[in-house]
Amino acid sequence: METMEQRLISNWSKVNFSVPSSFVQPLDCRPGKVTSPSSKTIPLIDLGGHDHAHTIIQILKASEEYGFFQVINHGVSKNLMDEALNIFKEFHAMPPKEKIDECSKDPHGVNCKLYASSENYKKDAIQYWKDTLTHPCPPSGEFLEFWPQKPHKYREVVGKYTQELNKLAHEILEMLCEGLGLNQGYFIGGLSENPVVLVHHYPPCPDPSLTLGLAKHRDPTIITILLQDQEVHGLQVLKDDEWIPVEPIPNAFVVNIGLILQIITNGRLVGAEHRVVTNSTSARTSVAYFIYPSFSRIIEPAQQLVDVPIYKSMSFGEFRKSFYEKGPKIEQVLQS
Ligand code: OGA
Ligand code: NI
Repeated sequence: METMEQRLISNWSKVNFSVPSSFVQPLDCRPGKVTSPSSKTIPLIDLGGHDHAHTIIQILKASEEYGFFQVINHGVSKNLMDEALNIFKEFHAMPPKEKIDECSKDPHGVNCKLYASSENYKKDAIQYWKDTLTHPCPPSGEFLEFWPQKPHKYREVVGKYTQELNKLAHEILEMLCEGLGLNQGYFIGGLSENPVVLVHHYPPCPDPSLTLGLAKHRDPTIITILLQDQEVHGLQVLKDDEWIPVEPIPNAFVVNIGLILQIITNGRLVGAEHRVVTNSTSARTSVAYFIYPSFSRIIEPAQQLVDVPIYKSMSFGEFRKSFYEKGPKIEQVLQS
């Protein structure tokens, strides 16, 4: 049995110059040559503009057509974004044993995790080229005692960063409420009180044409706000059967609609499929901030918006269980 230390991709990929067979994707999932630059891109929205109504229209349109957009002038300082990204990079650069120890403060092993490949490691036939650190990060400060304490400013910087992201997420959700015609504050409370941060580290891969960093998926969230490495490409969004690269833009966040918001809007907004490809030269770090409901909260199309719901009601706990059991086949479980 392999230990977690042995599994971490960052632990062995530097001295292994070929792709182990357990990481070679089946032909129909491989990214192929990932060089051809696409002229298409996802919308870029300036949140600092003065025309609030116009901003809402842009957000709504992007959420309907792409399920993805980038935002600039979002109010989170460049300094804090850099500080957070650097501390997450430092975390993944620590010796494997230290990382594992720093993620072992919860005796139940649920409120801070470090894993290789994906959370479904045991079930996945094929592995993914990535290590991930994840823990809850509610603004109340609950679970803070389970977060890493190394690098030494981790809790301070990540605490500040996740507070700011919570504010930004709620601003975006409020604008979506306005645009959709939902009551103000619709998402405050149960639908958004369980935020989680996922810090992905994708080491360079000797043959990116054979592997994936992250499988094609939709996020099991309300929305996701992603901070990506400023120089390194990797994220792609599926739009009209084409993989569109999400360009790293300085000081921007990538925002995407999650499957739960697709359900709430009865399919009007799309939780688009996306994936991450690897590259052979640079490690890539990305930080996803997931807005999750509380586990008992019922997920269903909003009655204010919908006469004929196409999705059935279930608790977020049930939804998440099906999501991890069924993977891409979850759509069948959701339809009413
Ligand atoms: C995710 C995700 C993209 C990335 O965490 O769900 O899609 O670039 N991450 O790491
Ligand atoms: Ni995702």
